[in-house]
Amino acid sequence: MKQQENMRKFFLLTIIVIAAMLASCAGGKVKYRIGVSQCSDDIWRDKQNAELRMDAYFHDNVELKFAAAYDSDERQVQQIDSLMNDGIDLLIVAPNQVQTISPAIDRAYDKGIPVIVFERKTSSQKYTAFISADNYEMGRVMGEYIVSRLHGRGTVLEIKGLEGSSPAIERHNGFMDAIKDAPGIKVVGSLQGDWTEPTAYESTKQWLLNNKDVRVDLVFGANDRTAMGARKALANSKLYTLNSTLYCGIDGLPGENGGIQLVRDSLLDASYIYPTHGDQIIELAVNILEGKPYKKETMLMSALVTRDNAKVLLMQSEELMRQADRLDLLHDKADNYLHELDVQRVVNWLAIGVIILLLVAIVLFYLNHLSKVNIRRERVVNNLWNLGSTESTELTENTEKTTAIADIPEEGQKTETEPLFITRFREVVERRMTNSELSVEDLAADMNLSRVQLYRKVKALTGSSPVELLRIARLNRAYQMLLTTDKNVSEVAYDVGFSAPAYFTKCFKDEFGRVPGEVRKSS
Ligand code: FRU
Repeated sequence: MKQQENMRKFFLLTIIVIAAMLASCAGGKVKYRIGVSQCSDDIWRDKQNAELRMDAYFHDNVELKFAAAYDSDERQVQQIDSLMNDGIDLLIVAPNQVQTISPAIDRAYDKGIPVIVFERKTSSQKYTAFISADNYEMGRVMGEYIVSRLHGRGTVLEIKGLEGSSPAIERHNGFMDAIKDAPGIKVVGSLQGDWTEPTAYESTKQWLLNNKDVRVDLVFGANDRTAMGARKALANSKLYTLNSTLYCGIDGLPGENGGIQLVRDSLLDASYIYPTHGDQIIELAVNILEGKPYKKETMLMSALVTRDNAKVLLMQSEELMRQADRLDLLHDKADNYLHELDVQRVVNWLAIGVIILLLVAIVLFYLNHLSKVNIRRERVVNNLWNLGSTESTELTENTEKTTAIADIPEEGQKTETEPLFITRFREVVERRMTNSELSVEDLAADMNLSRVQLYRKVKALTGSSPVELLRIARLNRAYQMLLTTDKNVSEVAYDVGFSAPAYFTKCFKDEFGRVPGEVRKSS
């Protein structure tokens, strides 16, 4: 029973080990979960998100979770809270406006989540790092460009970014500072553009209705999309002929309908590259998460785009984008390959697990079988064959009186008389073992059986053959003699029926683990 219990435990343990092996091969590395809270959703954000994603590929322990607030403060606050509840390890956030998003960012920061504020500022100091281009500088440089483009004289219609968002404030301030020393430049209107083309279009359309007599030489949009919105409104108004007004914006995106192309195609007169640099943001995030050194404030480089450099910039950026697309494709391929590899690995482990289980089951079955045979054998041999014990001697005397030849069970007969049979057989062996010429046939004859019958019966009852039992009996008696007489080893060997002392010594060692001399010494 106890043995079966142990085997069950061993079997269970094997299953647990295999399950652990499978789990460890299925489980991956520890992941950093990074939440990205974007205030808007537009081509600038798309480009940046793609870069974030791309750079995250280089860190196989980074997982990104994106949220876009579509220019809504309320939505962005909710999204930050829910990213936080999802258990992100770091927050990257472009706050829609300076004041409104700060409480949510503070909450994350106070919870111990590192925060990277990028591109737009908050009113709070609770952030881990800030990364952006210099929006004031961009407004200022663009202002200087406009002054020189208009040769110091002309009217400008400004389309501002979302009120309350830091780039809108800073670009406006930079621009105003740049033109304050140019008295010939007159800002005829400062309209809300909210960073979007439709809002800029509507504001400009309204303004034109109320300012039919005012001529606009140049539109300065806080970004390219608002400049283009104003352009459409002016083009539709019939007050302006195409190309009579210049349009300047900011963002200078590469690619289809990006600012660089618009400048090359003369739809915009100038733009300013507002770098997205998702790669640098991810590097910064990983450094923070891994406890490596990082800069708290990072200023990104940017540059003016004009008709002079637009063509070259476009060619270069197109080349870069082509390479990025190829990299993306390569990554997809690698991803698929890795996925297949993962599946294959799990299948392999499963197969190994099944094989191990089968092997364990076979070994357990075999051990179980062996132990049953041994238990049975030991019981019979120990209880009935221990020639040295007094108990067995008593049994011998009793059975001698009661056992008749007729009592010997035939093959297949019931087992009540089995102990008696063995006892009688033992008596025969004990009586005749001293004869070194004794054969199984002799023993069988004494038991009134054929040699084969005797073999089968003894084997079935004890698990041992008659010859083995004869040898054990001789060895047991020899053991007793070594303990109780002064006879030397050879004499003992001959006395118990061995014809060669050397063979006797070998058998003795096999049976008792010691040579006869040692038993003699210890007695
Ligand atoms: C993108 C965008 C850009 C602009 C920036 C200002 O969402 O509107 O066009 O330059 O945000 O934060």
